[in-house]
Amino acid sequence: MDSVWHATQPSSPVAIDVLPDGVHVDTVVAGAGLTGLVTAVLLSRAGHRTVLVEARRVGAVTTGNTTGKLSLLQGLVFSDILRHHSADVLQAYLAGNREGQAWLIRYMDDHDVPYQRRDAYTYATTDKGISALRTEFDACQAAGLQVNWTQQTGLPFATDALILPDQVQIHPLWVLEALRREYAERGGMLVEGVRVTDAGTRDGSPFTVSTTGGEIIADRLVLTTGAPVLDRGGYFAKLVPMRSYAATYALPGPLPLGMYLNAEQPTRSLRTVAVDGEQWLMVGGNGHITGRTDSPAEAVADLDRWTTEHFPGAERVHAWSAQDYRSINRVPFVGELPRGDGRIFVATGYNKWGMTNAVAAALSLAQEILGGTDGSPGSLSGKPWAETLRQRVTKPAGVASTAKLVGGVAAETTKGWVQAELSSLPDEPPAEGQGVVGRGSGGLPEAVSTVGGVTCRVSGVCSHMGGVVRWNDAEQSWDCPLHGSRFAADGTVLEGPAVSDLSPRTD
Ligand SMILES: Cc1cc2nc3c(=O)[nH]c(=O)nc-3n(C[C@H](O)[C@H](O)[C@H](O)COP(=O)(O)OP(=O)(O)OC[C@H]3O[C@@H](n4cnc5c(N)ncnc54)[C@H](O)[C@@H]3O)c2cc1C
Ligand code: FES
Repeated sequence: MDSVWHATQPSSPVAIDVLPDGVHVDTVVAGAGLTGLVTAVLLSRAGHRTVLVEARRVGAVTTGNTTGKLSLLQGLVFSDILRHHSADVLQAYLAGNREGQAWLIRYMDDHDVPYQRRDAYTYATTDKGISALRTEFDACQAAGLQVNWTQQTGLPFATDALILPDQVQIHPLWVLEALRREYAERGGMLVEGVRVTDAGTRDGSPFTVSTTGGEIIADRLVLTTGAPVLDRGGYFAKLVPMRSYAATYALPGPLPLGMYLNAEQPTRSLRTVAVDGEQWLMVGGNGHITGRTDSPAEAVADLDRWTTEHFPGAERVHAWSAQDYRSINRVPFVGELPRGDGRIFVATGYNKWGMTNAVAAALSLAQEILGGTDGSPGSLSGKPWAETLRQRVTKPAGVASTAKLVGGVAAETTKGWVQAELSSLPDEPPAEGQGVVGRGSGGLPEAVSTVGGVTCRVSGVCSHMGGVVRWNDAEQSWDCPLHGSRFAADGTVLEGPAVSDLSPRTD
């Protein structure tokens, strides 16, 4: 499972993987996806001494596995936001996304990063979907976004659609590479393969960021790790980790040239990809809460079936999967983390629209850290949209969503523990590519898998907060159904709020 972006990414110099002793900086940025890199660049432009600490490699997680549409038409997001918030908040959301989009387009122009202009469509093929399009049309009007209704989409089946012309599609790793270069040229330090594990002040000592590679003394920490890795504020419990699947296909005939997202379930997201003289159709969809499906491999097979039905002769070239986080009230969480003593900042919850939202978040964070137009730290006076989003008030729908989310997590916790308790582990190792969870020798859930001929036994209990992990047969990983942490077959943490591995079992 390797995304088209990783398969065609530019080569970049290996970053350092060891922290120098006694590092003392203004800001540690944790996580080198789009949010972290733009934040690090903005802070380094202002002369801040910054360390960007990345647990894996630049772009390894969501940004390197996105579908890469830089669009203000975002499926049914605007009507969803309006169900949770006032029109003021929706307008602020649009203003932030507009600024994020404009910033990134200008950045790509200035740094010779290729991209394509495309019309964006939200389309529907059913009465229910068309009704949802009408509601989205009204929400776009309320936001101040001028969209039109059309039946001419270029898709090989009849649809009604909203269209917003002149949006953009990108190669996300080309963008990250340009940002990485600028950050390095400005003297920023990037460390890869090092994970932030904690931060705080102990016994009057200076604020210290703990990592798997040592400690860093800093004035502040910015968490751009997808799901926030420190539990203060409990943000992991206010986010829904949504995993979905994507693939590229070679087609014998012409490709539809727009960027498309349907209004129904299962989702279908389409765009083209042009790299090195090749052109493919990308198809994504089949999203679900991470760890809560029986067979991710079946989700990929289903994309193949849909694509060959509508585009006969399509041949799959790449397939991958990724997750992003939806905040319970649909607007990203950006700003100071509660109980972080004003030193810890966070940006998360982009609901699969992070190309614009990540940049908006970075602009907002940089202004909050560096000072607004009045020069005072903490001020967002130059960005009214950021101020509105920071102070948004949740309508009752938000309370209902919280209760539903907590109820779902509680039910999954019980289900996982009961199932593990009732299942004994088989005597024989699982077949190649398979994994099972059952009651281990100490009575606790244990997870056993076989990948590449190697059988691994690890704790079946997520190192974050005790969820029982489930096998992902598409990516051969252990996925936690509670807050979306994921682990390799040998227990190494891959993503999500967890910061430590699943411990190995040997007896
Ligand atoms: C399938 C899919 C399709 C999407 N399509 C679109 C689209 O078309 N348009 C759009 O606008 N958005 C889209 N999105 C959303 C968008 O890709 C994301 O919102 C965005 O990439 C998130 O960027 P990020 O920097 O916040 O996170 P990431 O790119 O995930 O970066 C976080 C980084 O933090 C690192 N990290 C984690 N923990 C630690 C730690 N403890 N210490 C140090 N580093 C750590 C990770 O390794 C990772 O590299 C899509 C998302 C998905 C899942
Ligand atoms: S991700 Fe929170 S318990 Fe597993």
